[in-house]
Amino acid sequence: MAECKINDLNIAYFEIVDGRVKDMNPAAEKLLMLAYEAGIKDFKRYLAERLNAGDVMLRLQHREFGIKTLSSSPLRILVFGLDEFRPSLEELFDISSFQHEMKNPLTVIDGTSQLILAKSSDSYIKKCAGIILNETQRIKHILQNIRLLSGMVLEYSEFEVKDFLEEMLNSLNVLFPEIRLAVHVEPNLSTVTADKKKLFMAVNNILKNACEAQRTGQINLNIATDPTIKYICKSSGTAVPMLKISIVDSGTGIPEETLSRLFTPFFTTKNRGTGLGLVIAKEITEKHKGRIEVQSTVGMGTTFTLYIPILKEIIKA
Ligand SMILES: Nc1ncnc2c1ncn2[C@@H]1O[C@H](COP(=O)(O)OP(=O)(O)OP(=O)(O)O)[C@@H](O)[C@H]1O
Ligand SMILES: [Mg+2]
Repeated sequence: MAECKINDLNIAYFEIVDGRVKDMNPAAEKLLMLAYEAGIKDFKRYLAERLNAGDVMLRLQHREFGIKTLSSSPLRILVFGLDEFRPSLEELFDISSFQHEMKNPLTVIDGTSQLILAKSSDSYIKKCAGIILNETQRIKHILQNIRLLSGMVLEYSEFEVKDFLEEMLNSLNVLFPEIRLAVHVEPNLSTVTADKKKLFMAVNNILKNACEAQRTGQINLNIATDPTIKYICKSSGTAVPMLKISIVDSGTGIPEETLSRLFTPFFTTKNRGTGLGLVIAKEITEKHKGRIEVQSTVGMGTTFTLYIPILKEIIKA
């Protein structure tokens, strides 16, 4: 009975006797695969070393896991993904009342600083009012993003990929005229069914980061279906093809210690960043029942890849 619950919860369970795995559940098999892909060939040994060192956490492929020892003889261990136990964004923010409380004072600050800007002839006072106005806009922008994140609802439609890309090119060209965006689209992929506005925002946020990390030269945007990966539709059990959108820059790259924090709200390494761009991109992708992958090498560049199931049936799943 206990083991059945362990399986349901997707917690990896290992029983190790004389250095050999005597028993493990399906989640543990998946974890072994993940460790193997991360270059750890002997996971039992790796785990034993961590336990001997008194560790209660480990990191694999940029995900964090907690380790809990159930008994030492025989050695019975649980390994669980910490992400699964973190509260959702909706649980973190009671955004509607928070926004309401913030809106009135912000409107007053905004209006008053605009008035000072218009009426004052003192250049120093004008400068100060300008700073207040800018920072107020920034707070408003953060609040808008937080509202977007809490309780996001998608509005699906079928749209032309070429329109989507044209808007993307125009928007980027204004902000980053030194960047050349090279677009590669699978020849037969003319339409996509998704929330166009939100998907645009997700891709745009990632592209903006790429431009900020590179500033000049070429960035590649590739859109294609990926025949090797399928999404299994829960209601019908059918395998649905995935749309793969990759954004490839040759900018600064992302150091290892930053990679694990990329999707943490408000994490930023930029002076004027809010640290919400990637959180929004991830939330939008996951609402589409997709996922984001990142590969990066410092000094070489970064590739962000979005995978999204593309059939309309997904909307109802
Ligand atoms: N392509 C990239 N190359 C290098 N670093 C990146 C790249 N994409 C993201 N990052 C890093 O990830 C951090 C978080 O990105 P995110 O988009 O969430 O916030 P931001 O860009 O700092 O702020 P905002 O998006 O609000 O302007 C960035 O500050 C940067 O350090
Ligand atoms: Mg950003």
